[in-house]
Amino acid sequence: MDFPIFHLDFMGNRLLIAVIAILHVLINHSLAVGLAPLVTYFEYLGWKNKSEELDQFARRVMFVGFVITTSLGAMTGVGIWLSASLVSPASIASLIRVFFWAWFVEWIVFVTEVVLILIYFLTWRKSLRSEEAKRKHIKFGVALSVFSWITMAIIVAILSFMMDPGSWNQTKSFVDAVFNPVYLAQLAFRTPLAMFMAGAVVLLLIVIFTEKGTTFRTSVTKTTSIWILSWSIWVVVGSIFYYNVIPDMMVNNLSVAVGTMEFSNWYDSLLIALGIGVSSIVAIALYALTGKSLPLAISVLPVLLSFSLLTVFERAREFIRKPFVIGNYMYSNMFRIDEYPLLQKEGILKHATYVKHKEVTEENMVEAGKDIFLLTCSRCHTSHGINSVVSKFQNMYGSSELNSDAMVAYIQGMHNARYFMPPFPGSEIEMKALVSYIQKTKEYPIPTEGAQESGVSVSIQRGAQ
Ligand code: HEC
Repeated sequence: MDFPIFHLDFMGNRLLIAVIAILHVLINHSLAVGLAPLVTYFEYLGWKNKSEELDQFARRVMFVGFVITTSLGAMTGVGIWLSASLVSPASIASLIRVFFWAWFVEWIVFVTEVVLILIYFLTWRKSLRSEEAKRKHIKFGVALSVFSWITMAIIVAILSFMMDPGSWNQTKSFVDAVFNPVYLAQLAFRTPLAMFMAGAVVLLLIVIFTEKGTTFRTSVTKTTSIWILSWSIWVVVGSIFYYNVIPDMMVNNLSVAVGTMEFSNWYDSLLIALGIGVSSIVAIALYALTGKSLPLAISVLPVLLSFSLLTVFERAREFIRKPFVIGNYMYSNMFRIDEYPLLQKEGILKHATYVKHKEVTEENMVEAGKDIFLLTCSRCHTSHGINSVVSKFQNMYGSSELNSDAMVAYIQGMHNARYFMPPFPGSEIEMKALVSYIQKTKEYPIPTEGAQESGVSVSIQRGAQ
């Protein structure tokens, strides 16, 4: 392991990435990828029907998208890569090597998208000056929609590659990495979902921006409902397509992913809840189609439901990939599968750069154990915070004295006990050191510090200088 270990012992490292990433995806899908084409469509309809009111409405909706995507959206976008690089530098390093050109193109496409959104929103009023200007402006809307979609399409290649790299594991080819077995299905799911979510947002904005009882409100509500209903069919088709390409092992993980372990029996009810979520939005859209005005309390529901749905979906996607961070290549603890035989024989400390001790001895059991905990468990567990390893063992063995032999035996087979956990990458003595550390930290519950707090130790191997 060549990186110092960043660690947050209260909230856990997984949650740090999850909060930033989910916020970003919610904004990206609903207010960029989905909203740009919907607003452009409204603008086009306004131009075609010579309705200045519709044009103004489209501009106000775009204002919301513009402000949120260029502030919170952009910040969380950068935040994802920052937090992921802190928490899992080895996997990001691998992904950069595989997807270098994709990222390079992504950067250009993203900058273009930002320039286009600035032009599109800031030149809106000017576009009203002439027929020619309006036509040109609508073309910018189309270009913005295309570029927003391409940024998502590139990132989805990386996300789906992490789930199942397919033949890349043998060929190591860039094209195989991009067109991995999950890619097109995931894109076919996210695209209509983004459109669907944008429709939900606009349904709410209609209630805020337009006057009750007007024919204008009725007509935009109808247009938006038709938009939602047309895309909902593709959301369903896309989700079935997607579900079918997820590797079997991951489908098995799904019940733990949707709830946590204790809630895995609730899995069926959660799936039903998801079904109810989609059907409720469809029902609301159908109701709105009749031309009746939606009360604010109801029009907020599609936003809440579709945002919760995407949140559950992202959590599930992140979880079911486990024990891998990159399918069949690298485990979530950042050790590659092909490193395992050597490390299990010689130990991880010997091959790690930023550890205090290169070898476990009777005297350094606890100190070495701390480094082993950081290296092998801390990407998913804390010692005393969320998903605390101490309380996990206590739940299993009761809160009295934890039995060392039973713990070592558990760690030896942890990947069989729970297939979302990677096998222990180190040697047997390192398991014992880890157990000593867990027992010690149970007795004296001090949060485990990451490298950002405690600094790094670089130990030079005996004999080497
Ligand atoms: C890839 C992520 C990951 C890694 C790495 C990981 N775990 Fe876990 N572990 C989990 C998850 C997720 C759970 C279940 C949490 C829940 O939903 O309750 C879990 C549960 C456990 C449990 C309770 C199992 C049960 O049946 O009740 C123990 C004990 C445990 N982990 C120990 C460890 C130890 C020790 C390490 C390091 C050697 C480790 N884990 C590494 C993800 C991981």
